[in-house]
Parts: sequence; structure tokens; C-alpha cells
Amino acid sequence: MLGPVLLAASRSDAIRRIVSAAPVTRPMVDRFVAGERLDQTMSVIRGLTGRGLDVTMDFLGEDITDPSEALRNRDAYLGLTDALAPLNLGARTEMSIKLSAFGQALAGGHDLALANVTPVVEAAAEAGMNVALDMEDHTTTDSTLAILTELRKRFPQTGAVVQSYLFRTEEDCHALATEGSRVRLVKGAYKEPADVAFQDKREVDKAYVRCLKVLMAGDGYPMIGSHDPRLVAIAQELGRQHGRKLDEYEFQMLFGIRVAEQERLLAEGHQMRIYVPYGTDWYGYFMRRLAERPANMAFFLRSLVSR
Ligand code: FDA
Repeated sequence: MLGPVLLAASRSDAIRRIVSAAPVTRPMVDRFVAGERLDQTMSVIRGLTGRGLDVTMDFLGEDITDPSEALRNRDAYLGLTDALAPLNLGARTEMSIKLSAFGQALAGGHDLALANVTPVVEAAAEAGMNVALDMEDHTTTDSTLAILTELRKRFPQTGAVVQSYLFRTEEDCHALATEGSRVRLVKGAYKEPADVAFQDKREVDKAYVRCLKVLMAGDGYPMIGSHDPRLVAIAQELGRQHGRKLDEYEFQMLFGIRVAEQERLLAEGHQMRIYVPYGTDWYGYFMRRLAERPANMAFFLRSLVSR
């Protein structure tokens, strides 16, 4: 029950103000967010990549209301590309972009988001890095996949994200499982209505396995975005069954979540990419992390009460 409430709260400005001002919020945010500034974040990136982990970077800034904010977000990603390029890590570094941060929800948003994201994809490609388009709520799926198709004409390495909780996703996986296509499969983090998405966690998990089978059997490059130990084991098994080498798919987990598991998979020879969010606009991201796991919320509430 708590999850949907928290997901609704993630879109409330009033609750944003209360949560952001509470002093106990900070240590919890620090667990999930690498830093507010780029220089702090760069030292986290050096630490992760130095240990052999790959990264995908998220400059936090979703759900903007003004085109100037889209330009600010675009420029932040261009600055990030400049900062990462001297590390010479190539495709071990990737940008994860939420098109809502690039203007997708504004008037004329589809074209605006495409226009704003293109220079970032160009700059990343020049530095040998990749970009992945994060997937947001279901009202954006068609637009995001259409922008992906457009970008892939010039930059075929641009990554897609699909969410197993959506009924449509198995079909999307069939369409995306083509040569060179990088596809991150996740369960999905938004509050979605029953006419478009599975509501039962077990149904979402079963759909995840069906989608995983399609991606592993296909010709693309599957990216398993999950902390779920059962799904990780199934992905390994499917990888073996389909004769995939360990560099023909990868695991991805969020910064600060199941760190020991990240290290274990890396030690087993898997490619392990960490999704690293940074910036000051952490509220929506933070609330989705609380919603995913009641224990996080219980911990947060206990800290509030025990002060
Ligand atoms: P599940 O939620 O069942 O968790 C399995 C286990 O992992 C838990 O039992 C717990 O141990 C641990 N765990 C999971 N979440 C935790 C948390 N918040 N705090 C502490 N422990 C936690 N979604 C989306 O809609 N669009 C997107 O673009 C992306 N992108 C993305 C990238 C990457 C790299 C990852 C890993 C995830 C996403 N997601 C996403 C989020 C995704 O949809 C989903 O909400 C979370 O990954 C949680 O689902 P799990 O598959 O981890 O399983």
C-alpha cells in the first residue's frame, strides 16, 4: 500500500518541500545520490571505475516546467561529457537521460526533447561514450521509443529502456532485440494504471522473465537492470543457454543498492554497470527508491521519530 502513496507523493510539490527540508533526509539521500556537485561525483566515478565497475550517469532534473531548464540540463550533460572524456574509459561510461528533463512534457515536447538530446548524443559519441534513454511513465513510451529510433539512425549504440510492468513491453522487446541494439530491462518505477500495467508484483516478475527470454534469444545486447537475486540468477542461466559470452550482456544496479552483489557479479567476470545519479534535484528519484522498498521508508520514518 505504501508504495503507491510514495509514488503519488513523488509528484507533489508540497510534500517535496517538507521532505527536502527535514534534516534526517540528507543521510538517506546520500545513500542513493553520488553528490550534488560534479566534482564530488567525479571522485565517486573514479572510485567505481577504479574497482572495475562501469557507470551510467544521471544528472537529476526530471519534470521540468520551462524550456530554459531543458537547456540547463542539456548543458549539464555536455559538461559531464567533457569531464568524463579525459578518463578515457570510452563505453565504460554512459549517460542515462530522462527526456522529461529535456522538455518532452512541454508544448511541442517531442521535437524539443529530440533537438535538446541530439547534441549530447553527438558529444558522447565523439568521446566514445554511449547514451541510454531512461523510460518514464507510460504516457511517454511512444515518444521516447520514436526518439530512440531517430537517434539510432546516426548513433545505433543509443540504449533503450523497457519496463516489464507494462503489457506492451514483451512486444517492444521483440522489436528491439536486433543486432547492435542495447536494451536495459527493468521492472518499472512509476505508478501506472491497471489498463496498461501489471499491478501484482509476481506478474511483473513473470513478465520480466518473458522479456528477458526474448532479449537473450535475440541479436541485441541485453542490460539487466535489477537487484532481484532470482532474476539475476535467471539471466545468468539464460545467458548460458543462449551461448552468450560474459561480455555479450551486462548487469546494471543503482548506486548504493546491493553493493555486495555488485561486487560479487563483477568478481564472477560479469560486466556490472552502476547507475549513478547526481545533482540537487534528487526528490523524485529519492521517493521512487523509498517506494521500492518499505524497509527504506521504515528506516526513514524511524529517523524522523527518534530525533
Ligand atoms: P525489487 O524491487 O523486487 O528488489 C529486489 C531486491 O533488491 C530487494 O529485495 C532489495 O534487496 C533490493 N532493492 C531494490 N530496490 C531497492 C531500494 N530502493 N533500496 C534498497 N534495496 C532495494 N525504472 C524505470 O521505470 N525507468 C528506468 O529508466 C529505470 N532505470 C533503471 C536503471 C537501473 C540500472 C536499475 C537497476 C533500475 C532502473 N529502474 C528504472 C528502476 C526499476 O524499474 C525498479 O524500480 C528497481 O530496479 C527495483 O526493482 P528490482 O528489479 O531491483 O526488484
